[in-house]
Amino acid sequence: MLQMADRMQVLGTETAFEVLARANAMAAQGRSIINLGIGQPDFPTPEHVVEAGRKALADGHHGYTPANGIPKLRDAVAADLWRRHKVEVSPDDVLVVPGGKVTMFFAIMIFGEPGTEILYPNPGFPIYESVIKFSGATPVPVPLYESKGFSFSADEVLAKITPNTRLLIINSPANPTGGVVPREELDKLVAGLEKHPHVAVMSDEIYGEILYDGAEHVSLLGYPSLRDRLILLDGWSKTYAMTGWRMGYGVWPKAVFPYAERLAINCHSCVNAATQYAGIAALEGPREAVHRMVKAFAERREYIVAALNGLPGIRCANPGGAFYTFPNISGTGHDARSFQSRLLDQEGVATIAGTSFGAFGEDYIRFSYANSLEAITEAMERIRKFLGNLPRSQAAKG
Ligand SMILES: Cc1ncc(COP(=O)(O)O)c(C=O)c1O
Repeated sequence: MLQMADRMQVLGTETAFEVLARANAMAAQGRSIINLGIGQPDFPTPEHVVEAGRKALADGHHGYTPANGIPKLRDAVAADLWRRHKVEVSPDDVLVVPGGKVTMFFAIMIFGEPGTEILYPNPGFPIYESVIKFSGATPVPVPLYESKGFSFSADEVLAKITPNTRLLIINSPANPTGGVVPREELDKLVAGLEKHPHVAVMSDEIYGEILYDGAEHVSLLGYPSLRDRLILLDGWSKTYAMTGWRMGYGVWPKAVFPYAERLAINCHSCVNAATQYAGIAALEGPREAVHRMVKAFAERREYIVAALNGLPGIRCANPGGAFYTFPNISGTGHDARSFQSRLLDQEGVATIAGTSFGAFGEDYIRFSYANSLEAITEAMERIRKFLGNLPRSQAAKG
């Protein structure tokens, strides 16, 4: 009998990939499937970025690069952070890794161990809770409430800090809710954190450029009192429609950087060289494609929020960022998991149950609107039919 490490029993997963596999299998059998499950832009990577990757391969960039990323790419990241946040970051503090997830994994594994606690948003990106458990630390959920626009309450976060708290994870704009934490709440949080200098913060800002209706993204990089314990997680996947290229970065406190870099050397050596050249082109090149994509998301958001609010038993808040809506479905009489699976089986619409993002996601469903308006319109029709077919007693509930 093979004997695996105990920690393998607590590693979770991301349901979006399972739903994607099931939706693809159903499509392969000839079913008409509309995928509003997976969280990736439905746009191609901008052509000048693809061309830079192609050129890097043609120019012979086939070998290892420095583990932390090629210098010109780290310079471009620092310049981009200055452009967006007017904050000075040393390129030496930037660690380029294969995707946003890697910064998350490293940060949690660096700080988490048995006997320690890590605070994380719930509902939130499922990998936070999964890796916290894998590290041996205790996951301590920070609940996010629909009534607060899915932002957190700084007082509630601060009240959860104990002497064992090692790391606080923040994500704004958020997956799965699209919530954006307002500046006042962050000001309050950062002021409160001054009393807890033993707590590091990882701010996942991967959706920081996908915002609507003038919503403001406030980077935690802008708070000098946090800089020596802040890990910024960002990357190319969402802003530049580059999920399959696998590249992201962390900005690390100087004292922690060497450990993160050592993990990179132990784990993946460096990011694919051609991808890094494409990443420079993304940050330094024209931004029209990004603006066009965000504009398209904004139109779809407007449509889907209104359409969901017009369906019986569904109530949908207006998200300030990312490309997700997180409607409350308690009035339909379904729990989140059965809504997800029956909607896919009966009508061929793939969504993700709120419980895939943590216990506080019960009563919610995540819709990704990274799909065409036509597909979203058709999905809404199918959901109306699905809800209309509910037995009367269920439809009346709530
Ligand atoms: C909040 C959040 N952080 C990080 C990531 C990971 O991004 P990447 O594909 O670059 O690893 C995602 C992807 O869905 C996400 O939603």
